[in-house]
Amino acid sequence: MLLNAQDISIAYGDIQAVSQVSFHVEKGELISIIGANGAGKTSILNSIMGLVPLKEGKIFFDGKDISALPAYKRAKAGIRIVPERSRLFPRLTVMENLLVGAYRLRNKIPLQERIEFLYSFFPILEKRASQPAATLSGGEQQQVAIARALISEPRLLLVDEVSMGLMPKLVDQVFEQLRRLNNDNGLSILLVEQNAIASLEISHRAYVLETGVCVYHGVASEILADPKLKQAYLGH
Ligand SMILES: Nc1ncnc2c1ncn2[C@@H]1O[C@H](COP(=O)(O)OP(=O)(O)O)[C@@H](O)[C@H]1O
Ligand SMILES: [Mg+2]
Repeated sequence: MLLNAQDISIAYGDIQAVSQVSFHVEKGELISIIGANGAGKTSILNSIMGLVPLKEGKIFFDGKDISALPAYKRAKAGIRIVPERSRLFPRLTVMENLLVGAYRLRNKIPLQERIEFLYSFFPILEKRASQPAATLSGGEQQQVAIARALISEPRLLLVDEVSMGLMPKLVDQVFEQLRRLNNDNGLSILLVEQNAIASLEISHRAYVLETGVCVYHGVASEILADPKLKQAYLGH
């Protein structure tokens, strides 16, 4: 198991955001955690990255307990996050934003080669390389955010609501890019999403989160194919 979260709970003062949730990601898997606004999705990703502390439970990465490690050590171990709303530096150029992702991390990476791979994967980045990030469309900014996370060759990519605010056509495009990164490049990915259908369509397995509790987990294609499961958990 690449990532294994065991009975994790997260609280902000008196507010219990996540209650005893367990999930795992095998190497090479694309896994979704789906749930409505406020379900606890961002809290879970931030706890994996080390940005919020666990109240209870443990997180193992590659068999090692990382629950108490600071975020930079988790990044060094190969975990990277594409944060909610992409969080680019608006005045820096696209290229400068990409280089932020490489800063002091795994400096053995042949940077030029990596940038060329990212350009071939996200052609828009090359066209926009010297433009300030703020001048890009929402879909383009999400691609920069994904590329910034990919530049240091992570072993696990965490993706927080990449579809938020995008038009359906762009959602399909970004999800197809994630699917290819997983399928063609073997990248292990954990997505959290409100857009349940779109994320199930590219996922191997999924966990359904309701107000901080995992109410169902199973094979994504089986959830999509079962009208009762869809009705119960996706509201369709
Ligand atoms: N920094 C915070 N301080 C207090 N409450 C928070 C904080 N961040 C999130 N919460 C609360 O925790 C719950 C889960 O939030 P979040 O993880 O952002 O859910 P999601 O990403 O699924 O929308 C919500 O009730 C939210 O209001
Ligand atoms: Mg969120």
